[in-house]
Amino acid sequence: MSITVNPIPENERGSCPKELAFGAAFADHMFTQLYDDGLGWHDAVIGRFHDLKLSPAAAVLHYGQEIFEGMKAYRRPDGKVSFFRPDANIKRFNRSAARMVMPEVDEAVHLEALEKLISLDQKWVPSEPGSSLYIRPTMIATSPKLGLGAAKAYMHFIITSPVGPYFKEGLNPVSVYISDKYRRAVVGGVGEAKTGGNYAASLLVSEDVASKGYTQVLWLDAVEGRYAEEVGAMNVCFVYGGERVVTPSLSGSILPGITRDSVLKLAPHIGFEVEEARLDVNTILADIKAGKITEVFGCGTAAVISPIGRLCFKGEDYIINDNKAGPVAKKLYDSLTGIQYGTAEDPFNWVHVID
Ligand code: PLP
Ligand code: COI
Repeated sequence: MSITVNPIPENERGSCPKELAFGAAFADHMFTQLYDDGLGWHDAVIGRFHDLKLSPAAAVLHYGQEIFEGMKAYRRPDGKVSFFRPDANIKRFNRSAARMVMPEVDEAVHLEALEKLISLDQKWVPSEPGSSLYIRPTMIATSPKLGLGAAKAYMHFIITSPVGPYFKEGLNPVSVYISDKYRRAVVGGVGEAKTGGNYAASLLVSEDVASKGYTQVLWLDAVEGRYAEEVGAMNVCFVYGGERVVTPSLSGSILPGITRDSVLKLAPHIGFEVEEARLDVNTILADIKAGKITEVFGCGTAAVISPIGRLCFKGEDYIINDNKAGPVAKKLYDSLTGIQYGTAEDPFNWVHVID
C-alpha cells in the first residue's frame, strides 16, 4: 500500500516556536491510515495536521482501546535528521496493539510514514542543544459501538511536536514520591503495553504529589507493594558505589523502555556494570541512607536521562548525592545523546538517518 502525500502550501505552514514547552506545539502535517475488519489498513495519507472527526460512540472514548508510542527525531551536526531505534518503537507499538486486541500495523509502512512525515516537516526539527522533534504514533478504536468488545474499525495516526527538556528542572534532579497507597499496574494487566489507561490511572497520585513539590511518582509492585517498578514517565536506575547501574527487572507490569534497554547496553560499553534485579524499596532506602546508592536516575524517550535527587516514602525524604546530578548519570546522558544527535560514534547501529 502506498502513502499519499498532500503537502500544504508553503504560505500556510507555521514555524517552530522559540520557547519549547513539551508537546504544546504541533508541526504542519500528520499521518493517518484507517482499518476496517475485512478490508485491512487503507487510505494512508500524509496531510495537514487536523482535528479528528469521531462518533461520540467511538469505542476509544468509552473503553479506552488505545495505544501510543513516543520517539524523537534529532538534528545532526551536518543538518540531517535521524531517528533513534525506530525499529524497537515500531515493534513495541505492535506488541501493545496485540495486548489491546488492535490490528498490528505493517512495520515498513509505519517506518515509511515516519520518514516521509518528518522529511516534509524537516524545519520543525529544532537544533538548540537538548531539543528534538517528539513523535507520537497513536492508534484508536473508532467503531461507533457501545457494546463492550474489540472494535472493528481503527485509526492509526502520527503527530509530531518540537520539544525541549521534559521536566521544568531540565538536567537538574527531580524529586520523586514513592506511592505506598496506589498502584499502577499488575502482572497480567496492561502495564507492559503503552496504552492511555495506564497514564489516566496515575493522574490522581501525580496531581497529589505535584502539590507537595514532587515531579513524578515511583510505583511499587501491586501484589506486595514492596518492589520498585518504574516512574510515571520513565524507567528507573539505581547506581551502587558509583559504578554499578541496577534497574528493576521487567516484571510483566512495567514498560520495557527502549532507553532502559539502551542504558543496559551502553553502560558496560563506557565502563559501568549493569544488573537487572528485583529491588525491595526498604533495601533501596537503607542503601541510600548508608551511602551505598550514590545516584538514582530515570530514563525514557521524553525524559532522556533524568537525575533523581530526592525520594520520599511514607513522609520521609531521602536525599541522593546532595540533590545534584551525579557523574554516572552525566556520563550516560552525554554518551546516549552523543549517539542520538550524531556527535559520537554509534557502536550499536541504533541511529537511522533520513535521506
Ligand atoms: N515507563 C513509562 C511508564 C513510560 O511512559 C516511558 C516512556 O515512554 C518509559 C518507561 C520509558 O520508555 P522509553 O525509553 O521507551 O521511552
Ligand atoms: C515518552 O517518553 O515517550 C513517553 O511516552 C512519556 C510520556 C508520558 C511523555
